[in-house]
Amino acid sequence: MTENENITTLLKEKRLFKPSALFQKTAYLPSFSALQTLRKKILKKPELFWAAEARKLKWIKPFKKVLVWNPPFAQWFPDGKINISENCLDRHLITARKNKAAILWEGEPGDTRTLTYQELHREVCRFANVLKNIGIVKGDRVSIYLPMIPELPIAMLACARIGATHSVIFGGFSAEALKERNVDAQAKLLITADGGYRKGQAIPLKANADIALAGSPSVEKVVVVRRTGAPVAMLSGRDFWWHELMRSASSVCPPEPLDSEHPLFILYTSGSTGKPKGALHTTAGYLTQAAWTTRMIFDLKEEDTYWCTADIGWVTGHTYIVYGPLSNGATVVMYEGAPLHPQPDRCWEIIEKYRINVFYTAPTAIRTFIKFGEEWPKKHDLSSLRLLGTVGEPINPQAWLWYHQVIGKSKCPIVDTWWQTETGAIMISPLPGATPLKPGSATAPLPGIQADVVDKTGKPVPPDQGGYLVIQKPWPAMLRTIYGDPERFKKQYWSQIPGAYFTGDGARKDKDGYFWIMGRIDDVIKVSGHRLGTAEIESALVSYPQVAEAAVVGRPDEVTGEGIVAFVTLQGRTQPDPILREKLIEHVAKVIGAVAKPSEIRFTDALPKTRSGKIMRRLLRELATSGQVKGDVTTLEDFSVLTKLQAAEEEE
Ligand code: PRX
Repeated sequence: MTENENITTLLKEKRLFKPSALFQKTAYLPSFSALQTLRKKILKKPELFWAAEARKLKWIKPFKKVLVWNPPFAQWFPDGKINISENCLDRHLITARKNKAAILWEGEPGDTRTLTYQELHREVCRFANVLKNIGIVKGDRVSIYLPMIPELPIAMLACARIGATHSVIFGGFSAEALKERNVDAQAKLLITADGGYRKGQAIPLKANADIALAGSPSVEKVVVVRRTGAPVAMLSGRDFWWHELMRSASSVCPPEPLDSEHPLFILYTSGSTGKPKGALHTTAGYLTQAAWTTRMIFDLKEEDTYWCTADIGWVTGHTYIVYGPLSNGATVVMYEGAPLHPQPDRCWEIIEKYRINVFYTAPTAIRTFIKFGEEWPKKHDLSSLRLLGTVGEPINPQAWLWYHQVIGKSKCPIVDTWWQTETGAIMISPLPGATPLKPGSATAPLPGIQADVVDKTGKPVPPDQGGYLVIQKPWPAMLRTIYGDPERFKKQYWSQIPGAYFTGDGARKDKDGYFWIMGRIDDVIKVSGHRLGTAEIESALVSYPQVAEAAVVGRPDEVTGEGIVAFVTLQGRTQPDPILREKLIEHVAKVIGAVAKPSEIRFTDALPKTRSGKIMRRLLRELATSGQVKGDVTTLEDFSVLTKLQAAEEEE
């Protein structure tokens, strides 16, 4: 389906799903009018609403100032002191939650671990002492390259406890990507594992890390978790086993009083240039929005068991596996492996086994489940589910309806949540007891968030007209800067539309004020909900000796949302052949990670360019999508390039 068809389909989508009376009976926000009242109340001074939410957290020194806004730099609650790990752990130990499960973990092979709040607190305190003992101090950066095992949130919370800033690198990223992130953050420590399980295989994380470490001079020490038991090389004096360091570590570690604006984490994300950006998030504002959105959007109750299927290596895992749910004292299910392993019903099996109530996943996963057929979920009792969520990319109404009917048995509201690595927490989403749902729409900005669809001058566009999605007021969980590059932060987000943060997304608002996200308008593509920059993949391709030039575009894909198509020209007399094609795909996986593998590589003699030498990706996108170019080609320098590309298309 082309983008235009997709938009037309979305526009035709007229169905409205109101929250059921049964759901509303216990919902925190139980009606549309309650939501409207809340909106009205806080419209003029949203910062006071956020301040009231912030006061529900545990403060070491309460704040007086709410917001200092020197556009585009925001400080929330700047004179307060707080510790996030205390809010996620210690706070619960004096309540009935102390022996409640915080994390129900399941490994891909089927092994399990349960950590109560008290046990998690103990592990975090011990690891915080390990960090101190090996020389990590407040303000240091710590890279974390782990599989989805409990040591990952333990390491994050331990960093937060002592004021070290963590930078989690998705375990599927390559050694090269890890090195680049170590160097940019100037990380002093790397926490990794011998490996992790994925699709029945043990992924060799330490071996990858060793390659990265050869080019990461700032990393002084490495802590290695034993997960798979695979043999690994340990460099004496640099590499230490997690379990050995933990053995002698004390479990007493008072939380460090930290400024509200203390850097909590850096998370690298793709943009329109080749170099990933380190989105920097800080402490109190981030936690305020993470905690509020988790409670209200997932309508999270004390007795709920909650499962977000994201990997903690992405922002969804940071906010909605670790900080949001734990600050609410929730029971979180965490699963190590692949959703289809060993069979396509692994997720449904987990939901049945743990009696999960709230399930949060990505549209691409839903489309994969649809492909495998209803028989898989039908084998399992999914009646514990009461709320479903999606994130990461637009959900097509067909997939929405399947999710609603087959998984939610038509009784669970679906919260389609729009946000970004940069926003830190959910920004546009239904509130499940209050918002009537339209399949395919993330509905409306949350109370306290001011977002709109505007033209280039910042003027709101009329209903049902496409425009740029912007956020017009600072919000508590917003990124504070790009790590080490405030100029890029300004230029990237705050200079394109006057007076607003530009999200990079195109969107439209319908007559009822519902937002329909139309996807990225910059050179970012979303493959299975993972964000990849075309420039990054291009630079990986041209780093291969025989490649002269490369242009990468996204092509709509029924399951993954978008697929990657690369147009490649070769050096000198190199002849294209299928082996080279395979080698290039593997090369991209090596440089960035398997997530970035092109689904197709097309060799060509030349790329279509403007007279000023800019590659016309728009034409390539059209070609990759429909096999033809119908758009405006007047700025093209050499028409024969296009003719050849089209001829090649017909031959294939
Ligand atoms: O294009 C939007 C899309 O994902 C982008 C952000 O990607 P990332 O930083 O990786 O964060 C993903 C998880 C929060 C956005 O600019 N996106 C995210 N959620 C939605 C979405 N598109 C449509 N609907 C959504 N619910």
